[in-house]
Amino acid sequence: MQKYSTILLVGVVVILAATLAGVLVFMKNNPAQERALLPLVEIAPMEPDSAKWGVNFPSQWNSLQKTETNNIDTAYAGSSAFSWLERDPRQVILFAGYPFSKDYNDDRGHMNALEDVRATKRLNLNDEDPKRTPATCYSCKSSNNPGLWEEMGMAEYDAMSFNEMTPNINNAIGCSNCHEAGTMRLIVTNPALNEALEAQGKDWTTFTRQEMRTVVCANCHVEYYFDGPGKYLTFPWTNGTRVDQIISYYEEEGFSDWTYPEAGTPMLKAQHPEYEFFTAGSTHYNAGVSCADCHMPYVRDGAAKYSSHDVHSPLINPEQACGQCHTDVNYVVGRVATIQEQVAVTKIAAEDALIDAINAIQLAAANPNADAALLDQARALHRKAQFMWDFLSAENSTGFHNPEYALKICAEATNLARQAQMLAAQSVNDPSLLTTGTYYTTP
Ligand code: HEC
Ligand code: HEC
Ligand code: HEC
Ligand code: HEC
Repeated sequence: MQKYSTILLVGVVVILAATLAGVLVFMKNNPAQERALLPLVEIAPMEPDSAKWGVNFPSQWNSLQKTETNNIDTAYAGSSAFSWLERDPRQVILFAGYPFSKDYNDDRGHMNALEDVRATKRLNLNDEDPKRTPATCYSCKSSNNPGLWEEMGMAEYDAMSFNEMTPNINNAIGCSNCHEAGTMRLIVTNPALNEALEAQGKDWTTFTRQEMRTVVCANCHVEYYFDGPGKYLTFPWTNGTRVDQIISYYEEEGFSDWTYPEAGTPMLKAQHPEYEFFTAGSTHYNAGVSCADCHMPYVRDGAAKYSSHDVHSPLINPEQACGQCHTDVNYVVGRVATIQEQVAVTKIAAEDALIDAINAIQLAAANPNADAALLDQARALHRKAQFMWDFLSAENSTGFHNPEYALKICAEATNLARQAQMLAAQSVNDPSLLTTGTYYTTP
């Protein structure tokens, strides 16, 4: 009998010890915020007001709010809204005839999205004008969207004008853009992303947590266009997400954003394809690193450990952003500087080639004796070259997200632009159109 009691006692002690050890391991591996999942307040599905979610998750909410006041700049990016047109006046020429030649500022933190979209001079608020700005421009700016899309459907949302939609939108980017209320899991909230993934035969609900830490950013940080008169938000991914696959999609659709003045080239404007650029076989993507790893590292606030929702350039906090994986943070930050300098210089070379091509095509187009077929070939190359350059340029990391890809795209864009220039010269049989450095000479 006594023997059995002893065994029982030892058994109970072992179980207690194991449970305690288990709890300790669990606590060590799970940040305090994730453990405290018992909701203090019930969050309505797709609740647009982030402050309400913030009652339950104060660290995430406090850090998200910091994105509103961030203003530190880095060599090529950062959080102030500096003008790209002033910094690189070649872009005024490259976007001539299109609103981006009037106003093109660097991105700021998430909580400024609404203020910035309403302030841009690119808006056309004249609802009588067929070129009026559609409501679609709000798609990536507000936590009101998931609820509105659910309520009215995206087609109806996109068919409205920007003006008409304005009264429905009163929150900048927030929790409901990335999380499902209740479970707090990361979700695809933008119907256009869901449709684009489906078109590729992908089902995001089967993605791993690490994949979602990248895909959630693709709700917004992607290339897109407005399809048809209903301005339906569409990601051009049916053929794939590499730049050549996106170009082939636009060729098939016969889509263009505007016609280049006096050259007659049907142009494409790239948006901000960080997702496509990063996932095109970059070292980090292939190694399983996610956007959130660098832009939303775990941070501590007393006992609480949480993902910083103060999303900005990782060069501002490299110890947190890179130091979790790289022991020599100074070395990798130095690599960023080298890569960005190389990409920036190569990018300007592509811009010079494009400007020479534009000038040659304009001169050839003004010549009534030009060979129309050759001139059209020159335009087709101009269209392709400029989209490639823009795909790299509008991607906001100055090449860091995928350095080899950046340099390859730049080289191809430069080559195609020079070919366009040569064809334009050939179309009028005039070697003077081969002049280089027409508008700018590289310093
Ligand atoms: C390995 C780390 C890393 C990963 C992963 C990463 N980024 Fe970045 N990102 C950077 C660095 C470094 C920069 C350059 C910042 C600078 O120039 O100040 C940057 C720049 C940016 C910028 C511009 C920042 C600014 O200040 O204007 C955006 C937007 C961005 N990344 C979004 C993304 C998205 C979306 C993903 C995933 C598809 C991603 N990043 C993946 C490191 C990373
Ligand atoms: C731009 C997208 C985005 C927005 C906006 C956003 N989150 Fe997150 N959130 C994330 C990502 C990415 C993670 C990391 C999730 C993971 O690792 O599974 C995360 C993690 C979390 C977690 C899990 C614990 C942690 O810190 O890792 C909580 C809780 C959370 N967010 C709350 C919020 C709240 C509350 C808001 C609004 C105030 C919000 N989030 C806004 C992307 C977002
Ligand atoms: C709902 C749309 C949306 C989602 C989702 C989103 N972003 Fe953004 N992001 C934006 C917009 C819009 C801006 C520019 C805001 C402005 O300029 O006012 C921006 C700006 C940024 C910046 C520049 C911040 C600065 O201070 O310059 C970074 C970096 C960034 N996002 C990274 C990410 C990462 C990483 C994710 C995924 C975890 C993500 N974003 C998810 C829409 C989004
Ligand atoms: C989640 C882990 C993780 C984070 C965070 C991370 N890296 Fe990396 N990084 C890697 C891995 C893994 C590799 C590939 C190493 C290898 O294969 O030898 C890598 C490679 C690199 C390389 C070499 C690239 C190449 O093509 O060989 C550079 C440079 C680099 N990282 C810079 C950075 C910078 C800067 C940051 C912060 C902004 C950062 N990394 C954040 C995991 C990470």
